[in-house]
Amino acid sequence: MDTIVRGKHFITTQDWSKDELDTVFELSKELKLRFAMDEPTDHLLRAKTIFMMFFEQSTRTRNSIEAGITQLGGHAHDLTPDKMQISHGEAAKDTAKVLSRFGHGIAIRNCFFGIGNKYLNEVAEHAEIPVISMQDDIYHPLQGLADLMTIREKIGEDLRNVKVTVSWAYAMTHAKPLSVPQTQALLFSRYGMDLTFAYPREFPLMPEIMEQARKNAEKSGGSITITHDMDEAFAGAQVVIPKNWGGFLGVENPDSEEGKREMKANLEKHKDWICDERRMSLADKDSLYMHALPADRGNEVTDAVIDGPHSIIYDEAENRLHTAKAIMALTMGGRP
Ligand code: CP
Repeated sequence: MDTIVRGKHFITTQDWSKDELDTVFELSKELKLRFAMDEPTDHLLRAKTIFMMFFEQSTRTRNSIEAGITQLGGHAHDLTPDKMQISHGEAAKDTAKVLSRFGHGIAIRNCFFGIGNKYLNEVAEHAEIPVISMQDDIYHPLQGLADLMTIREKIGEDLRNVKVTVSWAYAMTHAKPLSVPQTQALLFSRYGMDLTFAYPREFPLMPEIMEQARKNAEKSGGSITITHDMDEAFAGAQVVIPKNWGGFLGVENPDSEEGKREMKANLEKHKDWICDERRMSLADKDSLYMHALPADRGNEVTDAVIDGPHSIIYDEAENRLHTAKAIMALTMGGRP
């Protein structure tokens, strides 16, 4: 088994082999057990530093990385562009080179559409230590790991032909990145699941990402179906993951004032894309409801569903800690 990922960047799961990903899940499980038993793991990254650069807000990602590295014996610097010279225009290369001399890992969240992933890749190109994505405009690999770990715990490790529906849902909050559903497409399709993606026509995902997911599915024996009907997507699903994402690709120029107005108008057309008890009744009777959080309660999902018997959102959120610890331990520690 190829398990030597020390120093490897984690920006998209596509760059990691299936063996490497399976190693992450094995270690996540072990770290979860050790955490439950209050067994020390602080030798794994003793005195190592990760620099967390947040261009946006975060609850789960920030706290899972910071708590995680503390439990592994290291320390996190919680940084924002205004605390660094980034806000004065420092080049990604200079930031990458300097932080590489000071510590052991760089974690970045930059979700600006058309910018975030490019910035992460530029830092990674010049960094001499691993760069870990904390979400960009295209990928959210740490979320994908926690999602898959949770599904494996609930359904089992053989996920071939398990029916999973990833659906767009209405929300009143900010235009969210495409990165969560796109990562689910790329990662889940490596494990042979039958995936359905549902969204209004004005809210497409990146065609090149969906093409990669289709190729993954072909290889793993799974499938990818796209529909524009939320009810149809829920029918018989064993796992439902309804969540809002922005309509960046449904308008000509999402950054212009005209584009933003158009995106808002498109959004308002689809208030009925909510996950409620009627829709849950269309899914498998034992279906699981998941959401990466934060959820827009009352818009994306009703309280009855998110707080109801099918919901596993807090187990999913908890696994952010264990998977983040596994990624840090393997890339920043591990075998030389
Ligand atoms: N799911 C997730 O990434 O949550 P945060 O935005 O709170 O980090």
